[in-house]
Amino acid sequence: MWLPGGCASTVLTSLGCRSFRSCVRVLARRACNTAAFMPEAAGFEGASSRAALQDFSVSSSDSFWSAVARHRLSWIRPFHTVQDCDLSRGRIKWFEGGKLNVSVNCLDRHVHTCPERVALIWERDEPGSEVKVTYRQLLEMTCRMGNLLRRHGVRRGDCVTIYMPSCPLAVASMLACARIGAAHNVVFAGFSAVALSERIRDAQSSVVITVNQGVRGGKVTELKRTVDTAVQSCPTVRQVFVAMRTENPVVMTARDVAMEEEMLKEDVVCEPAAMDSEDTLFLLYTSGSTGKPKGLVHTQAGYLLFAALTHRYVFNYHDGDVFGCVADIGWITGHSYSVYGPLANGGTTVLFESTPTYPDPGRYWEMVQRLKINQFYGAPTAIRLLLKYGDQWVHKYDRSTLKTLGSVGEPINTEAWEWYYSVVGDRRCPVVDTWWQTETGGICIAPRPSDPDAEIVPGMAMRPFFGIKPVLMDTEGKVETSNNTSGALCIAQPWPGMARTIHNNHQRFTETYCHPYPGYFFTGDGAYRSEEGYYQITGRLDDVINVSGHRIGTAEIEDIVNQCSAVAESAVIGYSHDIKGQGVYAFVVLKKIAEVQDSDLSRQLNDMVAKKIAKYACPDCIQIVQRLPKTRSGKIMRRVLRKIVERELDGLGDLSTLDDPASVREIIQGHSDLL
Ligand code: WTA
Repeated sequence: MWLPGGCASTVLTSLGCRSFRSCVRVLARRACNTAAFMPEAAGFEGASSRAALQDFSVSSSDSFWSAVARHRLSWIRPFHTVQDCDLSRGRIKWFEGGKLNVSVNCLDRHVHTCPERVALIWERDEPGSEVKVTYRQLLEMTCRMGNLLRRHGVRRGDCVTIYMPSCPLAVASMLACARIGAAHNVVFAGFSAVALSERIRDAQSSVVITVNQGVRGGKVTELKRTVDTAVQSCPTVRQVFVAMRTENPVVMTARDVAMEEEMLKEDVVCEPAAMDSEDTLFLLYTSGSTGKPKGLVHTQAGYLLFAALTHRYVFNYHDGDVFGCVADIGWITGHSYSVYGPLANGGTTVLFESTPTYPDPGRYWEMVQRLKINQFYGAPTAIRLLLKYGDQWVHKYDRSTLKTLGSVGEPINTEAWEWYYSVVGDRRCPVVDTWWQTETGGICIAPRPSDPDAEIVPGMAMRPFFGIKPVLMDTEGKVETSNNTSGALCIAQPWPGMARTIHNNHQRFTETYCHPYPGYFFTGDGAYRSEEGYYQITGRLDDVINVSGHRIGTAEIEDIVNQCSAVAESAVIGYSHDIKGQGVYAFVVLKKIAEVQDSDLSRQLNDMVAKKIAKYACPDCIQIVQRLPKTRSGKIMRRVLRKIVERELDGLGDLSTLDDPASVREIIQGHSDLL
């Protein structure tokens, strides 16, 4: 894969709780005053302590965000209105009147001050083969790519789909879109051709950017071939740009463009488009409880500001630090904390291409030692997996550069938290359990930053970030005012990083997020607020499950299982899984005439789900049942199925509405036989 400067002419392959009482008091730097801690807060009257600053950010939200936006972002034209929002109608607008370019904020302004600073460290699959890209080089790559896209007719407002693993050319492609005013739509490179084509069609992309092959965990994947299959059903696609991740040639058709070769012909200067604050920066598809995945829309200024501010303060990121977020760029975590947050802050960010166990379970910590990583940000599922391999894989490597450990994507259980804190962090580094969503754009609840000297309770996300006002709703839809209580987690006022709409479906946006609790943003999660006022996320309230930190709607899986010719109907639920957090459990009713072996059925269903969604969504457990427990009106009682699988037979609750109570006995028996 090509890098500017150096070996330019050839296509190189080198580029590239409630009850957790064991509070841990983590002492962090003591800042003497608010302005020293947060320079943009210098003018805030009365915000003399960090707690007062937190209150100010919520009660004087316009003053807070206006000052921060002026300080943190470079504007082509200043904004005239800080916010114009009405949550009850799903109208969210920030920094109107302002014009800026996101790629200029992430690149040019740092190239002016420190062109040779490393922007990206591409941690390639093979350990020890990392590639560093400076801000000057990344700007050059971005400009060439921006010019290439323009030459192929991509215009402001178009949407470009990117199907690539984490690598510098993927980041340059995202930033090139931002430079010329096109939106990007990054699709996780583990998604199948069917899932990819659905997303390309929904986004109406005319251009797809990919690589010839992916390399992960020592295995090669045929990404270009997947794109070829996907675009067969995407009439809007005119061009496919293909970068070379490996040296193996792929079949190129008239539609395909050899990306690096063509980039080399382009100019290294690309005029940035002056974008309005509320123009779309990107779409990112995520699963909901019903229907097809939704393309959440994030816009320019508010998103970038929120990603930058949370990156700086939640992780205590300082100039010169090496930030190691191991999420793939195909997820929101990769967008906000591998790309936009760190680059807006002029940081050095790691792009991790591999897996936690390749070539062995010491991979993360060997990388921490080699790249001198200061903040490490990963998912509980990987921590749980690694702790099972034993402490020796961690002890082998020097982790003294680490200052902050982050966790994201799912609840982190106490055992994993303790191991992360004690073994990985040597009880020196605060563990920040960060709660947020694709919808929120950036971290909303985390132990930092408002009071860094205060306690962190294992397994709790703790405190709201600046400008975030969480509330818990009771079953009647009223705000719970007391502590030591649980409820539906909502956010009471808008913040700049929140998603603005669902692409082509604003009604679905308002119905999902704004209508359940009018005037509030509904997150879909439940939470507990402790006596001290700290938050702990208790899990989804809808039919979305979280498998190894990947979010998936059970309805999406059922849809595919039901397409199997032997299946009459099915119900899919999530259940507690040691490593994955949640596993996929499918109850399947076969058609009367179906003759199928259990092992064949399992293979067929797994193949189908992998082909239509991705491997991570495949059922871990399939139980064939005679019938599903249903209410008299025909609704499947998933609550009962969840209790059976969790072995909480005393808690099955009221079964009087069941059409046929015998179905439950059969399922309990079948489940025991499976174990
Ligand atoms: C879950 C990932 C507990 C939650 C950034 C949320 C968490 C969903 C945490 C969003 C956490 C995320 N503790 N649960 N620290 N972080 N979640 O959109 O259910 O892929 O709604 O964004 O993950 O997943 P998404």
